[in-house]
Parts: sequence; C-alpha cells; structure tokens
Amino acid sequence: MPRVHIELDRKAVVAPVRRRTFGSFVEHLGRCVYTGIYEPEHPSANEDGFRMDVVELVRELGSTTIRYPGGNFVSGFRWEDSVGPREKRPVRRDLAWHSLESNQVGLDEFARWLKLTGSELMLAVNVATRGILPALDLLEYANHPSGTALSDLRIANGTPEPHNVRMWCLGNEMDGPWQTGFMTADDYGKIAARTAAAMKTADKDLELVVCGSSGSGMPTFGDWERTVLEHSYEHVDYISCHAYYQELDGDLGSFLASAVDMDFFIDTVVATADHVGGKKRSRKRIDISFDEWNVWYLKEHQESQKDETEWRHAPRQLEDVYTVADAVVVGNLLMTLLKRSDRVTSASLAQLVNVIAPIMTEPGGPAWRQTTFHPFSITSRLASGEVIRPVIESPVYETARHGEASVVDAVATADEDRAAVFLVNRDLREAAQVTIDVRGLGSSRVAEALTLADADVYAKNTAAEQDRVSPSANTTAALADGVLTIELPPVSWTAIDLR
Ligand code: AHR
Repeated sequence: MPRVHIELDRKAVVAPVRRRTFGSFVEHLGRCVYTGIYEPEHPSANEDGFRMDVVELVRELGSTTIRYPGGNFVSGFRWEDSVGPREKRPVRRDLAWHSLESNQVGLDEFARWLKLTGSELMLAVNVATRGILPALDLLEYANHPSGTALSDLRIANGTPEPHNVRMWCLGNEMDGPWQTGFMTADDYGKIAARTAAAMKTADKDLELVVCGSSGSGMPTFGDWERTVLEHSYEHVDYISCHAYYQELDGDLGSFLASAVDMDFFIDTVVATADHVGGKKRSRKRIDISFDEWNVWYLKEHQESQKDETEWRHAPRQLEDVYTVADAVVVGNLLMTLLKRSDRVTSASLAQLVNVIAPIMTEPGGPAWRQTTFHPFSITSRLASGEVIRPVIESPVYETARHGEASVVDAVATADEDRAAVFLVNRDLREAAQVTIDVRGLGSSRVAEALTLADADVYAKNTAAEQDRVSPSANTTAALADGVLTIELPPVSWTAIDLR
C-alpha cells in the first residue's frame, strides 16, 4: 500500500480562493440551452420557460461565473437576433455545430436565468466575423444605464437595469482552423487590441480576455500567446487557456495524471505572458482565464459528426456520460486550478448542462447529476479563505503521456475557522495510506470526509440509474495530536472538511 505524508502550513499561502475558479459555460450548442436550461413545456418550467429542476442543480453545483453564448457558436453569432420580441427573432444556421438556432433565448433571458442561479455573466463578443462596432453596440445594450439608442432598446425589451457585465471574451479559439473566421496570431492580436481599446474607452474597468491557444497541442502554441500579447498586452487583462482530456488507448494511468499536463500548460502561458510584459517593461500582469476545461471524449464526437448533413434544432451533441475515473480527473483538474490561483483567477468548466456537462436532462423528464458533478460541487462548497500549498511526499509513477506523476496529489484551503483538504489517489489497484500534519492549520476536528470511488472505475450515472455513483463518508479519517490519517481507495477523489 503506497504511504504518503503531507505537511500543511497556514503560512504557505498561494493566493485567495477566487470564486471565479468555479465558473462554468453555457453555449448555444446541442441541448445545453434548449431542453437543457430552457424548456417551456417542462413541468418544472417557470414563466420564462426555464427548467427549475435544472436551476436547483446549478445552485447545488456552486458554479459562479458563466461564460456565454460560446464557444465556437459565437463566431457566427449576431447578438441583435436574440433580443426583442421572441416571435420576431430569426432562425439562423449555426455553422459551428451544423444546427439551427432559434434565438428564443438571448442575452436578456439568459441574464434573468443567471439571477435564479446566483451566477455572474461572462460574455463573449464575435470578433471573428463581425468587428469593433457590433462589440461596442453589444456593450452599450448590455451595460449602458439609459438614454442611448441601444440602452433604451434594452429597456423597451423589458430589462430596465443594465446587466453590468464585467468580464468579456474577445472571440473564441481564434487559432483553430475549425473556427469560423479563424486568424493568424498577428491578425487576431491586432483586431483584439483594437476591439479591447475601444471597449475600454467606453468603460475602463471592463475585464477583457484575449484568446490564447485552443490547446497546448496546437502547432502554434507559445508563439500564438507571445504574438497576440505583443499586440494587445496593455489593453487586455486575461489570456485564455482551454484544455480537454480523455482516456486514450486504454491508458488510464496517463489519463489520471491529466492535471500534470494542465500544470505544465499554465506554467508555459504564465512564462510567455511575463516574457512579453518584461520586454514591454510593463508593471501590469496578465492573468489566466482557464475558460474551457473538462474531460471530453472528443475523438468519439469527431467520428459521430463527420457525416452530419441535416440542419436540426438542438440535436443531441457532445452528450458524454462520465465515469468514476472521469470524476477523479475533473476533481484533480480543479485542484490544479486552485493551486495556481496566483495566476489563474477565473475558470470555466465546459460546459454546464447536457453538453460535456455535470448536469444532464431528458426533454419532459428528469435532470440528474453526472459523476463529475460531485467533486466540483463539493470543492465549490468547501474551498474558502486562502489556498495553501501542500508539501507532498508521495511515491511517483511513470506515465506515457505526461511523464512522472505523484500517486497522490493534494491541495488545501484555509479560512479563519475552517480548512479543507482535497486529494486524489491515482493508483489503479492499491489504496493509499495518507498522513497529514494539520498542526500548521490549527485544525482539531474532522467535520466531514467524503470520497468518490467505486469498484468499477467506469461506473456512470444515467437517466435510469441517476445515483449509481455518489460520494460517501470516508470512515477511515481520524485526527489525533494534529495528525490526520486517512485511507484513499484506488482511483479516488476525496474532500476533508476540518474545523
Ligand atoms: O466546449 C465545446 C467547444 O470546445 C467550444 O465551443 C470550443 O470553444 C471548444 O473547441
């Protein structure tokens, strides 16, 4: 049995826990919006047509800032189509996902939905196929209080108060050849800088996200970030990172070490951003908005979509059903985002409902939690105060895809009167015996210890068996003389709430 020792010291602070780390993403894609969050005919629908069973689950998930309306979708989107009287809104083709968009949900409705869930809006503008003026128009419609053509239009459309959106994405994955209107780094850097400068002329306090690479595997990774920031550094506040992981070729060991890759990715982007800032002798620091991250069985999706010819509204797309192993990876990726809270100050789990999502629904039927729901919701509930960097003495193993990985990974957070420790055991066969020195946190009591694991690491939750996988109390947790001991089952994620 692997033996692991962890030291936690209240003084080893990384950064405050950022609530925006627990962001998510709603794209007009598949059934994320239509029959996901919005289904007027559903028995639980409110007067706006939003499913209240889904609202309840989103609240329980504890997601904070929600990125909207895309994703690849945004690069073909005309925001004007989605406001005003619903019966006058046009149906358009969405080239990104080869489907039809009815525009029955738009900015004003979505903002009302966000209020129900207690979340903040993060809005993306279409810089790919539109330009500076439509972005400024959207900003005026969304944020200007009143007395201008577009703010008065918003009021006439039934939204008297401005949405006051703070975070804005300047397009999406502009390096990807799949992106409608994709660009070179040079072209995008220039247009992003000009769009950002114009938006900040309207409101200097906006927080603007420039597109980084759509993945660290892109051939232009690194150069893209450098070139884009060389153009836009002084005008933007964040650079985005996107990362999706999946088990490939039956290599579960590598898949479980996905967080090692995410950590390396963050290191590279931070180094590149700081390199550009240093060259510019800028005192400003660019943070990371990790605004797409998750497990995604992308290869399977690409296979299933390649012969798609029909134009359908809200087709079933990207409806991945997650396993226990997937949940362990998602929990571990979130731990990494917390560990890097010094530079990753916003993140979005992609996505929220039905589309590579922690919440699933059936039209006219139930809504339920996927396996990945649990580590996200528990971490969002327990993480508070400051992130504490742990010192971990753990055996390591070699992976084919990500090099060396520790068998056990951990991160902690601490507030004045409570602390939390989050752990994964990546060992495929053996439980890990862990001791954690918590004297440096001043903790004396375990309030709760929850573990997600299963004898079948590929067990899933489905419409028929909605709670097949859920966390259970880890009864091995014990705290005596400032030392916590706990056993972590193989392929497991654990959270400990300390007082
Ligand atoms: O989240 C699904 C898609 O993944 C997004 O639309 C796009 O930005 C990324 O490629």
